[in-house]
Amino acid sequence: MHIISRNSPCWCGSGLKYKKCHYDFDQKLAFYRNNGHLVPDHNMIKTPAQVAAIKESAKVNIAVLDYVAEHIRAGVSTEEIDQWVYQETTRYGAIPAPLNYEGFPKSVCTSVDNVVCHGIPSAGQILRDGDIINIDCSTILNGYFSDSSRMFLIGNVSEEKRKLVEVTKKCVELGLEQVKPWNFLGDMGQVINDYARQNGYQVVEDIGGHGVGLEFHEEPWVSYVSTKGTEMLMVPGMMFTIEPMINMGTCEVTIDERDGWTVRTTDGLPSAQWEIQVLVTEDGHEVIAY
Ligand code: MF3
Ligand code: CO
Repeated sequence: MHIISRNSPCWCGSGLKYKKCHYDFDQKLAFYRNNGHLVPDHNMIKTPAQVAAIKESAKVNIAVLDYVAEHIRAGVSTEEIDQWVYQETTRYGAIPAPLNYEGFPKSVCTSVDNVVCHGIPSAGQILRDGDIINIDCSTILNGYFSDSSRMFLIGNVSEEKRKLVEVTKKCVELGLEQVKPWNFLGDMGQVINDYARQNGYQVVEDIGGHGVGLEFHEEPWVSYVSTKGTEMLMVPGMMFTIEPMINMGTCEVTIDERDGWTVRTTDGLPSAQWEIQVLVTEDGHEVIAY
């Protein structure tokens, strides 16, 4: 344990003396830790300058998704969507974070119907009337990361699938209401899981959300099947994603053996996901990317 003197500059980079800045905050964290709770490390707390830079990255991510929203329709291939994302992202001087990430071959994830996440765009995959698709965009601008995804309904979508998409969106909104200092990540996980189950759906357990901003995927890992009062404490400056994957049937998923990426439901039933990037603020939260 590194002890800093009360008169030294605060670890957060504010330039203030520790005792005038994060001293009381650290005392409070120690109290929670001593009571058996998971608490964030200082490196999970973004400085105001970092937050400003991440917001610039997020502006690009949002604009790219807006572009997709304007152009997506039946007859378009997921390869074309990949090209839009590459072209729009680079036009802003940014880099699509998925491209070459751990060997991922494309600039965006395109996940149709029973694909839960990490679908790989391809020229042979043409969007058809009645499809639901998740477009998951992630951007690197000046070294800062943003990450969000949206669902799109292609043409006439069945009432069943529409409801899945709407309930999943509501799960994210309900989860967001739980994001405030001194709540727990499990408070968010519980409301998301409860609402999904009330609607007869199951939340994917094996894949979660993550801290984001300075890296693509940072600590903490974020579960959406967790329990109120458990998991990591939320504190101002933490930034993470809310991105539950909600299945119409079983929560069980499998990864495609041939491509090593595509995640599908084992029962073949549809799955939906919306992803937002949120910052915990002094009095609640701020949505950074959507
Ligand atoms: N954007 C996804 C997420 O929400 C990650 C995709 S990783 C990739 O975490 F390599 F498939 F792009
Ligand atoms: Co994410």
